[in-house]
Amino acid sequence: MNRNVIHTRDFAQDASAFIVEKFHAALEQRDKFRLALSGGQTPRAVYTQLAREQLPWENSTLTFSDERCVPPDNKESNFRMAHETLLQPAAVPASSILRLRGEIAPRLAADEYAEALQSHGIAGEEKYEHDLILLGLGEDGHTASLFPGTAALNEKRRLVAANFVPKLDAWRLTFTLPLIFAARAVCFLVAANKQPELIARVLQGDQDLPAARVDAGAKNVTWIIKEG
Ligand code: 6PG
Repeated sequence: MNRNVIHTRDFAQDASAFIVEKFHAALEQRDKFRLALSGGQTPRAVYTQLAREQLPWENSTLTFSDERCVPPDNKESNFRMAHETLLQPAAVPASSILRLRGEIAPRLAADEYAEALQSHGIAGEEKYEHDLILLGLGEDGHTASLFPGTAALNEKRRLVAANFVPKLDAWRLTFTLPLIFAARAVCFLVAANKQPELIARVLQGDQDLPAARVDAGAKNVTWIIKEG
């Protein structure tokens, strides 16, 4: 595991610049940028900044590292958040977007998405290899929708899982560790003021925290931490 931790007061600009750098590097190597978008609220400013960049979105495939089990126009939908801040403002073509269908039965949505990923794979890949997966950090150390103590955290075979989260009394759709570990790079986008002690626990490798499991197992991990 190769890890880089960046503390910044220019969070949106620095995170956007990081993604742009990965975009161009992927185009040079494979003429396609495969990016997974994170949900929650922290990425909003990053996506808004990213939408201002002139990028060949037609040469990208955008996926979602997790989704709530709600319709895409629901205020809780991660797709809706990305659509408002990035997909619509940047005029990302529909052909570049793989939406996790939160509005259908969770297990069906997860299986459908895993098949979609594999159909968008590159010859020779055993698992779909994202160039970059964006992730957040929840107050309990969850990331994507891999919550402490939930079944999906122990999934060793599936790439996408339907995961019941007791504390939310709700189903979620999420990338699994096998899919996350297959990525060339992972980037956590985190606001420090929210949970400085938690970030320290994760970076110290507390494996009770799903984010620490990702941090320990992913190939190249970058933490972009918003200060101030
Ligand atoms: C989700 C996310 C989740 C999120 C963290 C942080 O669907 O909520 O994917 O993992 O990234 O909970 O959320 P905030 O950025 O809103 O703090």
